[in-house]
Amino acid sequence: MTESPTVSPSDAARALLGVLVPMVAGGAIARRPRVMGLAQRLDLDSRAVKEMQRLRDRYGPGPVQVLPGRGMALLLDAGDVHRVLNGSPRPFSPASREKRGALGHFQPEGVLVSSPEERTHRRPFNEQVLQPGRPVHDHGERMAAVVTEEVEALLGHVDFTGELTWDSYAVAWWRIVRRIVLGDGARDDEQVTDDLLRLRKDANWAYFKPRRTARTRRFLRRVQEYVDRAEPGSLAELTARTPARPGTEPHQQVPQWLFAADAGAWSSFRALGLLCTTPGAVARAREELDGSPDLPYLRAGVLESLRLWPTTPLILRDTTEDTEWARGTLAAGSSVVIFAPFFHRDERHVPEAHRFAPELWLRERTDADWPLVPFSGGPAMCPGRNVVLLMASTVLGRLLAERDYAVEGGPLKTGGRVPGSLSPFALRFRVSR
Ligand code: HEM
Repeated sequence: MTESPTVSPSDAARALLGVLVPMVAGGAIARRPRVMGLAQRLDLDSRAVKEMQRLRDRYGPGPVQVLPGRGMALLLDAGDVHRVLNGSPRPFSPASREKRGALGHFQPEGVLVSSPEERTHRRPFNEQVLQPGRPVHDHGERMAAVVTEEVEALLGHVDFTGELTWDSYAVAWWRIVRRIVLGDGARDDEQVTDDLLRLRKDANWAYFKPRRTARTRRFLRRVQEYVDRAEPGSLAELTARTPARPGTEPHQQVPQWLFAADAGAWSSFRALGLLCTTPGAVARAREELDGSPDLPYLRAGVLESLRLWPTTPLILRDTTEDTEWARGTLAAGSSVVIFAPFFHRDERHVPEAHRFAPELWLRERTDADWPLVPFSGGPAMCPGRNVVLLMASTVLGRLLAERDYAVEGGPLKTGGRVPGSLSPFALRFRVSR
């Protein structure tokens, strides 16, 4: 057996402090707005990408182990990214130790933290409800109607203040999410998503925070009630109606859908910023607003927002057996880390790295392409991607159909290089008719 692919202690320390610590500090499961503001000021994401480039120059294709005790290795090679993502759940299991510690706070039986055996039925269940193969979900028409109503309500508020802020956007977004996932009856049930937020804050600390079992029980009971209610047109209805075998735990799949929808809010709000600071982009987006539910350019705009600022910057896998690499062997039980911004923003391989380039997404991407993986890839790729892209693109379409927006303050500038970090919480728009 060859040696395990370790790096010098000083390089390991630099990678930990420059790449992994800032991502964890920003809040892996529930973002910490203040830390994200600081990351934006210090441009920590650009620095992390530079650190990864330095490791790649020094150690070649890698991977490199930066936390030998845990067996944590960073991938440095594009081919290895495809290999790992396609090799889920064996030999690369998505249910990493860190994820189980974190997500166990609110979805201990969710597919993402399931064993390979449980995954064989939980993953197909998720796919039946979320329909990842279809750009427009069976419930697409109702989803669009919900978005239209809530954007109208949001614009009513915006007209009063003349400004679109994160706070008002997030209120509207969560109403949309609750109605689409749980049903219209959940529109104003902030308790269910507040409970989830509290549990997500605990989840940021993974195993270091004791489980609040009473709150977890209350949250999951509430979700179960919505599934039992099965309001027509909601994902809860499909959850109730889709056949499940014992052990699938249908209602425990729902928390991931609610939690992950937060990334849809960040990415669509940032996408609005990108569109409004790219000459010609708003006009191009408006051209496709002809009543069709599928909005390819706006979807590509959201995907660009996710490429430039991935909302899952660390994609984690645990190895289920010993695996061989260019620089040695990783023992079974090691952690493999894909740091998405390194691949998305490496100007040496992606000429569009630091500009808004929706054309990257207007054709199908395959494993022959450079890995752009905002939704991960392979058998564990996000099954909710088309639902969230539909929601986000429809929100943007409704906003742009009605008003003009200008970004106020912050690092996003018309015609400039797209900044390495952009906190959605500090983004603001001046709005005019
Ligand atoms: C912009 C929003 C979203 C982004 C960027 C995103 C991204 C991701 C990523 C990167 C993963 C894989 C994580 C990993 O490999 O460890 C994932 C998994 C998953 N996502 Fe999403 N997601 C989003 C929204 C959603 C929504 C709205 C839903 C449901 C309606 C959803 C459902 C899921 C599920 C069920 C999994 C687990 C899949 C599995 O383990 O097989 N996601 N998502």
